[in-house]
Amino acid sequence: MSPLKQQVTAEIEWFLSQLPDLTPQTYRKAEYDLAKKVSATIDKQLEFNILEIESRIKNEVSNAQLNHSQNNQSQNNEFWSDVGPDVFLTPYPEFYLILKHLNMKSISKVSDLGAGYGRLGVVLGLFYPGVEFTGYEIVRERCAQGQMIFEKLGFTQHQLIEVNLETGKSTDLKPSDLVFIYDFGTARAIRHSLDLLRTIAQEQPLTVVARGRRSRDLIERETPWLSQVVKPTHFPFFSIYRSSDQAATFVEPSA
Ligand SMILES: C[S@@+](CC[C@H](N)C(=O)[O-])C[C@H]1O[C@@H](n2cnc3c(N)ncnc32)[C@H](O)[C@@H]1O
Repeated sequence: MSPLKQQVTAEIEWFLSQLPDLTPQTYRKAEYDLAKKVSATIDKQLEFNILEIESRIKNEVSNAQLNHSQNNQSQNNEFWSDVGPDVFLTPYPEFYLILKHLNMKSISKVSDLGAGYGRLGVVLGLFYPGVEFTGYEIVRERCAQGQMIFEKLGFTQHQLIEVNLETGKSTDLKPSDLVFIYDFGTARAIRHSLDLLRTIAQEQPLTVVARGRRSRDLIERETPWLSQVVKPTHFPFFSIYRSSDQAATFVEPSA
């Protein structure tokens, strides 16, 4: 393993060593705050240019809004450019915590809808090297930066694709066993993506990890094929939904 991979792996393992009894159920605000600090250290190790890129995106979005006669607040929300990366990106250790409690033996392809800089791909590459990762992201600079980090880490099976999921076609999404969704974009975009996922779930069992209120609400209220066929598992920060009994299961922590 390269020294860089070793450093990042050690950082995530350090987080877990500080919280030996941690489970998705006990992962709350204090644990999240520590996970965010660890993530900032990892971003530095990887030499991610996040702060610089984010400040550019924020300026571009405000200029675009000034140039429109009506202030389009939803555009700002879509890019998450009005909050810092520690708010709109899931911390690396949280991704690891989620994956550790899933039956990863039955998972070979993972996607992230609205992938940001592809942090999930980094964690998968380090801890589950055989698994393929595809992240879909609307902001070109985030895709480019994340893809550069994948190359630096030698994750040749990982890809960040620039796409607007609000208008995507079902052929835009690669088949996956596990899909991660964290409140990207508008309700319309999430709804549309859930429709696209249904096409995939008709062909193969699908597990969906949803983080954030909007995605979970839409799945609970409008997506019975995910929320009502198999009973979901809920945690403070995320929920796990499965399209059928054959989809990858959540593994209860041993007592
Ligand atoms: C809350 S962030 C989550 C990032 C990543 N999944 C994570 O958990 O670290 C949502 C991401 O979705 C992207 N996004 C928003 N609308 C989108 C759309 N219509 N199509 C694709 N990506 C979108 C945003 O640019 C942002 O990077």
